[in-house]
Amino acid sequence: MTKEAVTIIDHRTGESYDIDLVDGALPAIALRQIKTPEDDFGLMTYDPAFTNTASCRSTITYIDGDKGILEYRGYPIDVLAEKSSFLEVVHLLLHGELPGEDELSQLASVVGENMAVDESMKKFIGGFLSDAHPMGMLISSLACLSTYYPDAKNVDDPQNRLSQIHRLISKVPTLSAYAFRRNAGLSCLDPEPGLGFAANFLRMVFADDDGSYAPDPVLERAMDVLFILHADHEQNCSTSAMRGVGSSYSDPYSSLAAAAAALYGPRHGGANEAVLRMLDEIGPKDNIPAFIDEVKDGKRRLMGFGHRVYKNYDPRAKIIKKLAYEVFEVQGMNPLLDIALELEKIALEDDYFVSRKLYPNVDFYSGLIYQSMGFPTPMFPVLFAIGRTSGWLSQWNEFFDDEDQRIARPRQLYQGSPTRSYEK
Ligand code: SDX
Repeated sequence: MTKEAVTIIDHRTGESYDIDLVDGALPAIALRQIKTPEDDFGLMTYDPAFTNTASCRSTITYIDGDKGILEYRGYPIDVLAEKSSFLEVVHLLLHGELPGEDELSQLASVVGENMAVDESMKKFIGGFLSDAHPMGMLISSLACLSTYYPDAKNVDDPQNRLSQIHRLISKVPTLSAYAFRRNAGLSCLDPEPGLGFAANFLRMVFADDDGSYAPDPVLERAMDVLFILHADHEQNCSTSAMRGVGSSYSDPYSSLAAAAAALYGPRHGGANEAVLRMLDEIGPKDNIPAFIDEVKDGKRRLMGFGHRVYKNYDPRAKIIKKLAYEVFEVQGMNPLLDIALELEKIALEDDYFVSRKLYPNVDFYSGLIYQSMGFPTPMFPVLFAIGRTSGWLSQWNEFFDDEDQRIARPRQLYQGSPTRSYEK
């Protein structure tokens, strides 16, 4: 049986060091013993953007980027998208197992009871400009919500963490719907007890001012599946922000605001909005070759393509592409689909993209569905955040059970000025 260890030879001193691997990885702190001279701080790793650094152990989500595999607690994403519901996946991510019937109905009633927000939150959202970006409204509302629940600071209490988690999972769709209503100049509707998670959200978004709303089961199921597909994705940028801010023992509302702020960026969850703007900008199909040339000249990026981990087709993009046709059946074909399909066809054949293993990711087709469902483009990252709230909170919760974890505080390679005297 080969020893799970590596030997590092320091050619500066001729010393060699046997270092035991931990779960197949090199414990970075073990490098600190490698010093020259003796009073040296010791060797560090240098890994900008953490491309090859595990920040934690986790049992929640598994991704194999080369094979295009994504599993939540061991269940393949395509199986969950086909057979599960978003609330069932919320329970799975939080507790590690699929819920029984009683557990699921209990979660559904807890979520239903917690979806409403205080009337003053409606006034808070009413204070934004009518054209405020809904992600800016959501991020601010999350931080504002922290002021309603000062007890949320007791992050060491698992029961308290769970009740805050339930509150947040329930209230993020409501705050998201209110951001939409602010932009649309419509009043904020209270959630309707007894409606399912996706149905309640869609009603708060699309109902008339008097609350009347004609539910469409195809759209409700599509929304629920999209929340499942966006629920978690291991240590992505926004989840790392959630864990990083949470590691200072900040309350979960403030940590979630930080995670949503990270998601907002166009290289992360803001890409779905950027994809639609890109498709709109391209215009007719015969503009595509010139656009692709600009991408290959490095003048712009093909939004919705590429991924830090997936070097194969993002499994979520495959499911979303299929789901799009089901929504278009009900809502009518989205004219931008042709442009998207042509872009994908060219990109999958062109060496620039093939050599860089750039495939469609979760954001490439999702916006087409959202647009067909009636959401304006700025709402797309907000829809991503509603699903991802469950993953952010599951990962945040896991942090507290991990005895290896402390406040996140990376080091640096100082390249600045040596000590100098102050002379003016
Ligand atoms: C999400 O991490 C997650 O899990 C995220 C996510 C989740 O569920 O949480 O999956 C959600 O954020 C999906 C990604 C959404 N973003 C986009 O679609 C924006 C467009 N894609 C990128 O900007 C880019 O692909 C990233 C940000 C997604 C990944 O960037 P990396 O891993 O840092 O790769 P890179 O920027 O170093 O690029 C490597 C090469 C470069 O070319 P060279 O310097 O080698 O010549 O590939 C090129 C890049 O220029 N490249 C692209 C490109 N993405 C990378 N060129 C054109 N178009 C692109 N989209």
